[in-house]
Amino acid sequence: MRNMHTEMTIFEVILARRSVRNFTSQAVGLDIIRILLEAAVHAPTVLHDEPWSFAIIRDKQQLKDISDSAKPMFIHELGKAGHATDHVTKPDFNIFHNANTLILICSEQTGPFIVANCWLAAENLMLAACAMKLGSCVIGAALTALNRSEIKHKLNIPDKFSVIVPIIVGYPDGDTPPSPRRKPFILTC
Ligand SMILES: Cc1cc2nc3c(=O)[nH]c(=O)nc-3n(C[C@H](O)[C@H](O)[C@H](O)COP(=O)(O)O)c2cc1C
Repeated sequence: MRNMHTEMTIFEVILARRSVRNFTSQAVGLDIIRILLEAAVHAPTVLHDEPWSFAIIRDKQQLKDISDSAKPMFIHELGKAGHATDHVTKPDFNIFHNANTLILICSEQTGPFIVANCWLAAENLMLAACAMKLGSCVIGAALTALNRSEIKHKLNIPDKFSVIVPIIVGYPDGDTPPSPRRKPFILTC
């Protein structure tokens, strides 16, 4: 496992992480996915509850089918919120940016910190991916569709589980420029 990691410090990895939306066709091996999940489950977890479960989808046709189902729902959500929908309505737009791996962080629990736990696991996973020269991106746009019973059934996710974080992972095709950040706004110090 060690030699798969780069020599980057954690701060360098934090600064190097980008939301990657262009991928090569190279598949992400299950051995690599296991390392990403290992990073995920080392996130802090309230009362040591470890409420997360994972679903891995690596079937390109299945991902395309989910994308096709998710797009109209996302377009509806964007429209309701008053956002532009042009890019999403293009027929060749794939909500998963044509990645060939989707990792879903799910939970069967509910409670005030369950969602927070899963998002902490998500960031661990994405930083680990970056350290291993993989690209990743949260796909919130697919969340409504992924929580539909019919889609969960197709993915063998029991109904009692909610999908909390969808993340695509893959080998980046080209560089992604950093997106700017505002300086921390300090209320009191
Ligand atoms: C909750 C959440 C949902 C997101 N959903 C999407 C999405 O559906 N599609 C997408 O391409 N990027 C999505 N992103 C990625 C953001 O657009 C991205 O994090 C932001 O533009 C900052 O860029 P960076 O991650 O490269 O720093 C999402 C990010 C978060 C945190």
